[in-house]
Amino acid sequence: MSRVIYHHPEDQPAPAPDLAAGEAVRDTRGRPLRDLRISVTDRCNFRCTYCMPREVFGANHVFLPHSALLTFEEIARVAAVALSQGVRKIRLTGGEPLLRKQIETLVALLAGLRTPDGHPPEITLTTNGTLLARKARALAQAGLTRVTVSLDALDDALFERMSDSGVPVATVLSGIQAAADAGLAPVKVNMVVRKGMNDAQILPMARYFRHSGHVLRFIEYMDVGNSNGWRMDEVVTGADIVRLIGAEFPLRPVQAHYRGEVASRWAYADGAGEIGLITSVSQPFCGDCTRLRLSPEGRLFTCLFAEQGHDLRALLRSGAGDQVLRDRLAGIWQARGDRYSELRGQAHRDHKIEMSYIGG
Ligand code: GTP
Ligand code: 5AD
Ligand code: SF4
Ligand code: SF4
Repeated sequence: MSRVIYHHPEDQPAPAPDLAAGEAVRDTRGRPLRDLRISVTDRCNFRCTYCMPREVFGANHVFLPHSALLTFEEIARVAAVALSQGVRKIRLTGGEPLLRKQIETLVALLAGLRTPDGHPPEITLTTNGTLLARKARALAQAGLTRVTVSLDALDDALFERMSDSGVPVATVLSGIQAAADAGLAPVKVNMVVRKGMNDAQILPMARYFRHSGHVLRFIEYMDVGNSNGWRMDEVVTGADIVRLIGAEFPLRPVQAHYRGEVASRWAYADGAGEIGLITSVSQPFCGDCTRLRLSPEGRLFTCLFAEQGHDLRALLRSGAGDQVLRDRLAGIWQARGDRYSELRGQAHRDHKIEMSYIGG
């Protein structure tokens, strides 16, 4: 008897499962598909030293040509298929997603989609904030729900050094305010903490964002991509950060909003708001990871640390029908076993995807 040998298990012709409304396709570890993170461009106007160091992403770096990118219609089609398989939340990332022209048109297309039980998806966006003051209102009008803004320091000289951009902190702060004013609230502010670089900014950032209504989140510096020369001793753990801030402003833990929430939440005991800790290194959260990532040119990645994606663009452009796309996407998720952060140190990766290409 002859048998066909397939290179990838997901290439086997397995039809997407019949899902009752509200259910999701599950991977090999029983994790449901709930989040789709869409990177809309590999370009960025910053050159953060830990993400796109200028030595690697300099004038000679070749970015994807526009013709290689999925069109907004193609992205919305993938999103619709993903919603049919369990996705409820969509995050737009990059690179810097606000560099993609008319991104609000994509937001409007996504906002028109519905889950099988008739709910609109939550649509969020992660940005460095430089173009946010200009774009916040249009994004909110198009149907964006919330934004997350990256900000690693309040000190101008340090911020400019870390982002290698010449952009003053005030530009990002006014973007955050414009987003909140447009109703994209609560705004989450993400600070990647790198020991010896910006850890002295933890307390100034905490003080600044208390009483602001924005949620400051501290992210443990991760070994993403291939170019940041990551070392474990550059990580400040979430536990250390809670101790440091708690010594000045008492904190109490808060229940997660939902299973699989990435950040653990802490509230100021005096009612000044809350902070989040994203402990991907010291306390990995792979067990609850429900995230699928779509790259700018239409490859699906089942982990932030994956080495290879699964091309969907060829299928999209081949005239394939929705059922074929559903089967392909479900098959990729059902074959998924990733848990890189739990295996860190044991799992060697020769060539990881870049964060600037696939987004946070
Ligand atoms: P919300 O709860 O909707 O705000 O989303 P979120 O908590 O997933 O926030 P966000 O997308 O801003 O992620 C924050 C940071 O957490 C990212 O920039 C990454 O550094 C890290 N992160 C997010 N998802 C993953 C993941 O799947 N794996 C790992 N290892 N890190 C992640
Ligand atoms: N470790 C942790 N977070 C990172 N980000 C980028 N590179 C890293 C890293 N090495 C975060 C950015 C931003 C999001 C897009 O990803 O700070 O919040
Ligand atoms: Fe910095 Fe985000 Fe741009 Fe990377 S994508 S260089 S983290 S602003
Ligand atoms: Fe998910 Fe991979 Fe991050 Fe683990 S390392 S939480 S599997 S994206």
